[in-house]
Amino acid sequence: MKSIRSIICYLTFVQYAHLITPLWWNIGLQQQQKSPIILNPYLNSDEQQEQQLQTDEFLDDPSQYCSAWTGLSIGQKQICLLHADHMPIISQGTAKGIQECQFQFQDRHWNCSILHDGTVFGRVLKQANRETAFANAIFSASVTYAVSRACKQGLLKSCTCSRKSRPKSLPRDWSWGGCGDNIDYGYRFSRDFVDTPENEIKLDTPSVSPILLDAMNNVELPNEYSIINPVNDHLLLSKRREMKRRRIRRQMNLHNNEAGRRAVYRLTRVVCKCHGVSGSCSLRTCYQQLPTFREIATFLKEKYDSAVEVRFSGNTSNKNRQQPQIRTRDRRFAGPTKDDLIYVHESNFCDYNPRVGSFGTKDRLCNKTSYGSDSCKSMCCGRGYNTIRKYVQEKCNCKFVWCCSVQCLTCTKLIEIQVCK
Ligand SMILES: *[C@@H]1O[C@H](CO)[C@@H](O)[C@H](O)[C@H]1NC(C)=O
Ligand SMILES: *[C@@H]1O[C@H](CO)[C@@H](O)[C@H](O)[C@H]1NC(C)=O
Ligand SMILES: *[C@@H]1O[C@H](CO)[C@@H](O)[C@H](O)[C@H]1NC(C)=O
Repeated sequence: MKSIRSIICYLTFVQYAHLITPLWWNIGLQQQQKSPIILNPYLNSDEQQEQQLQTDEFLDDPSQYCSAWTGLSIGQKQICLLHADHMPIISQGTAKGIQECQFQFQDRHWNCSILHDGTVFGRVLKQANRETAFANAIFSASVTYAVSRACKQGLLKSCTCSRKSRPKSLPRDWSWGGCGDNIDYGYRFSRDFVDTPENEIKLDTPSVSPILLDAMNNVELPNEYSIINPVNDHLLLSKRREMKRRRIRRQMNLHNNEAGRRAVYRLTRVVCKCHGVSGSCSLRTCYQQLPTFREIATFLKEKYDSAVEVRFSGNTSNKNRQQPQIRTRDRRFAGPTKDDLIYVHESNFCDYNPRVGSFGTKDRLCNKTSYGSDSCKSMCCGRGYNTIRKYVQEKCNCKFVWCCSVQCLTCTKLIEIQVCK
């Protein structure tokens, strides 16, 4: 029964999936391309040295390598051609972003489920909601993070350790200049790479862009732009609406991308290492160090919870490229800061709704004694829950055996779990 439901669910998503163009985030799911060599099926892993050589050759002519990544925009492909050695780093960074998203949102209605449709998170991204805001921020942060660290590790040709100047507050006898994470380079690279697709969006001609994502999802667009007839008022109107929607969405994405990068910047700190006779700490060397990526994700998750609902004002429909102004929806509050995540529409992931990419929370696990977001009350959106008793196998009666292993028995235990109706 459940599998039939999931097949139907899958089919429905596939049906909608083709409406979405791939996004660069998808490279986080293309880990197999970490080494360009793997693209070549005739090589096997025994030929280690030869592979190394071939990798370098590949990077001398990266055009084939760069077109193998799906989801890159035109500008991103150009960046890839110039900096092919950055790509495996970005891919790993993005993979970490996806992983952290799933960790941070494991007990939320939307839990970063992956769809293999080229967009990573699917139709959710079509709306200008909090979830999209978080996704933009975490991916932008993950590129900043991965590149900053890779510079320090000497993995990239175009950067090395941080060259940031000595902080004024550092005590005079502490030395500055250990090899730090190069956050300045990471920030700039992320700004170029991550923001590029947004700036490629054409705002005056209705061509299909890589990030054709609607801010006002309740308006359906004509699918075939080529048949737009200027005489047809209705289509002209929807074209105008579409332009406005793109402007707003671009503005929102750029803002949230920047918020993600700023989070990395803000949490980066100066750390010092002690040297000297047997840890006497008579000498110290200090340098910049990124926090753990978990800390950044946790910080951005808090920003998600306190994200600011905004409206865009100003003349968003005129053709001059003036940017729409961001205002908080509730005018009692001051406008969002650059560190805040912003969104336009509230989302709802309680019910199954493929149109907006919501799987619903039916059959999700919940905790009947918790008061948090994993509580049955919150997770099940008030629909209640079923209690399921099931047997699980566990290790038990473990004994230490001389020397040196631990031997356990397998016990069967009856447990109760709660799942949402
Ligand atoms: C916005 O700009 C367009 C074109 O420049 C103009 O026709 C329209 O009246 C403007 N709308 C507002 C509200 O200013
Ligand atoms: C995330 O949500 C989906 C759909 O509701 C569910 O199938 C999946 O098990 C959830 N993942 C986790 C880790 O809870
Ligand atoms: C449920 O929540 C309670 C209270 O927060 C916690 O002590 C308990 O470990 C949770 N149970 C599970 C299965 O996560």
